[in-house]
Amino acid sequence: MITTILGIETSCDDTAAAIVENGYIISNIIADQEVHKSYGGVIPELASRAHQQNIIPVVEQALAESGKTRKDINAVAFTRGPGLIGALLVGTSFAKGLSLALNIPLIEVNHLQAHILSNFIIKKSEKRNLPEFPFLCLLVSGGHTQLVIVRDYLKMEIIGQTLDDAAGEAFDKCAKVLGLPYPGGPFIDKYAKKGNPHTYSFSKPDIKDYDFSFSGLKTAFLYFIRDKIKDDKNFITSNLSNICASIQNSIIEILLDKLIKASIEKGLNEIAVAGGVSANSELRKRFISEGKKRNWNVYIPEFEYSTDNAAMIAITGYYKYLSSQFSNHYITPVARLKI
Ligand code: KG4
Ligand code: ZN
Repeated sequence: MITTILGIETSCDDTAAAIVENGYIISNIIADQEVHKSYGGVIPELASRAHQQNIIPVVEQALAESGKTRKDINAVAFTRGPGLIGALLVGTSFAKGLSLALNIPLIEVNHLQAHILSNFIIKKSEKRNLPEFPFLCLLVSGGHTQLVIVRDYLKMEIIGQTLDDAAGEAFDKCAKVLGLPYPGGPFIDKYAKKGNPHTYSFSKPDIKDYDFSFSGLKTAFLYFIRDKIKDDKNFITSNLSNICASIQNSIIEILLDKLIKASIEKGLNEIAVAGGVSANSELRKRFISEGKKRNWNVYIPEFEYSTDNAAMIAITGYYKYLSSQFSNHYITPVARLKI
């Protein structure tokens, strides 16, 4: 029997649709929203309007690319939260309408669970090891930074999280101080490639257990730049690569220190990363080399599945479909939703 799941993602500023067939990804379409670029951040109202414009073409394209028609879809999965409420409403309403029109089950998906399950997105022709349960996952996105023990596809336990800013936020806020466009994470990544990560050092926070904190680092960075500019107004432009490499290095060390501690204390060596920040090239490199040193089996989602996408919603929807976890049509989106 063939099971075909359509996934819809509209939690922030990407309108995305993807199709998974029997657990394998067969199409994945993302429309990002240029409209926010000139504002230096996501404007919720504009995001909702852009989702409304993009949702039909994105779904049509996902179907066309997969060679499927609406009649082939067995269930529609959508992001219920967390995210921007207006943005979530567009995807939720669309999914409800489609489910009613086609008389197929509706499946709500938690965006954070989906990021973690992006480690299971695979093409049929692909030979790749997938994580074995239980595994430890470092989830690092624009809004969340968590250490999660994943006991099964839909059974997850948070053992640590950020007490203030998320890692992605730290990247974006430091990038803003440097005058880089939003979101700044990928720009820091790009400029850091030519820099020396040990040029400047920033003190690490002393936080208990498996929790994180990034707001102190962000403030220290802001003061550091402010002081340097007092002496040399061209400080940023003449040292951009070294500044980016140094702040990136500090963020990565904070993340890896806690990941290593948790892996040792919890006795886990199946280790994954997920979320937008896992697209960072240096984090990927350091994670792999740390894994070699420590005998970990490491898992990183393909680059295109690290940042927001609907393939992760479709794959999570597929596992929920297998265990008949369906939603009713009275369901509403939730801006703050826990794993
Ligand atoms: O998971 P995601 O796409 O959206 C949320 O669910 O938040 O994550 C977005 C975050 C942003 O903060 C962005 O700057 C960061 O991921 N990001 C990166 C890179 N690519 C995306 N941070 C560092 N290096 C990157 N290459
Ligand atoms: Zn996300």
